[in-house]
Amino acid sequence: MKRTIIAGMGHYVPENVVSNHDLSKIMDTNDAWIQERTGIKERRWVSAEGEDTTSGMGTKAARKAIADAGLEPSDIDFIIFATLSPDYYFPGPGVQVQENLGIDTVGALDVRNQCSGFVYGLSVADQFIKTGMYKNVLLIGSELHSGGLDKTTRGRGVSVIFGDGAGAVVLQGTDDQTKGILTTKLHSEGKHAKELALLGPATSRWVDRIIEENDPEDMSYYPYMNGNFVFKHAVTRFQEVIHEALQDVNKGPEDIDLLIPHQANLRISQYVQAKMGLAPDKVFNNIMKYGNTAAASIPIALSEANEAGKLKKGDLLCLAAFGSGFTWGSALIQF
Ligand code: ACO
Repeated sequence: MKRTIIAGMGHYVPENVVSNHDLSKIMDTNDAWIQERTGIKERRWVSAEGEDTTSGMGTKAARKAIADAGLEPSDIDFIIFATLSPDYYFPGPGVQVQENLGIDTVGALDVRNQCSGFVYGLSVADQFIKTGMYKNVLLIGSELHSGGLDKTTRGRGVSVIFGDGAGAVVLQGTDDQTKGILTTKLHSEGKHAKELALLGPATSRWVDRIIEENDPEDMSYYPYMNGNFVFKHAVTRFQEVIHEALQDVNKGPEDIDLLIPHQANLRISQYVQAKMGLAPDKVFNNIMKYGNTAAASIPIALSEANEAGKLKKGDLLCLAAFGSGFTWGSALIQF
């Protein structure tokens, strides 16, 4: 059986920086509140006159990851695209990347697991590569949140948290059993589906009903988040699923060289780090600069950590995510 390695990484974020101070000009919020609760100082939001889209940002990150792997787009034999903010309700953005990169008619799979989407996609890619079905899988996480947020005081509990951006990796098989993905763990708990969700439009509220109910106060077009409830579940599930993966390969938290958690909230990352007894420098965070970019947060952080020289050959890398669904997952990778 092959092992799956990360052969290339890349990320792209829009140029437009939106600071907490900028937000305080359009809604009743302030830098101290946002930093104290979330650690976020600024985020990137696509500019209205710009051309960035979820698929477009994903394509830019993908080009970098493919080049980083020393490959051409034509070498990619499968595409996986994780997002909660696709360009269209359907089709998903995977096919747009296939077209943008001029790749032959390879399969393109869209993953709809929100903040856990990248870890879910990684697990799917791992199964394809281990069995030898595909050789070079392109996995992308990309989000354009800013177009769908309520940027008034009414939506401030959600809108200050989320940012735009994309990250990508190229995954390859190797016969070298000393490196690569050791294990992945995936979970879900649908009874909490509405605690972190965007409910309309949807097939349960299809177009005729939306038009009938066209109420300017209808909040179902905006993401809803039960913040305290999400926080409590996130800190528990992050720890559980990391321990589950470690146990699977007979390792402990002390073996982790770098943990890259989904960048949900700096306070969540710090809580998990402290509870697991990890030194602060063993956990990589960049939410301060980008906000929460959902499915894009892990691949952006991974690419930045790698560029910063924080990943060395032989390191044990742990990825972990929690998000809407609820869904959560983890991966352990011998670098
Ligand atoms: N600026 C200023 N005041 C605000 C803002 C804001 N942006 N947002 C809310 N407030 C006010 C509220 O209206 C409320 O005022 P009130 O007391 O007069 O009613 C007060 O601040 C406290 O609001 P809470 O929602 O109770 O604030 P809390 O301390 O719980 O912090 C937060 C909110 C940051 C969302 C917190 O619940 C949290 O961190 N939750 C975790 C969820 C999370 O991080 N999700 C990330 C996305 S999900 C994911 O990726 C898994």
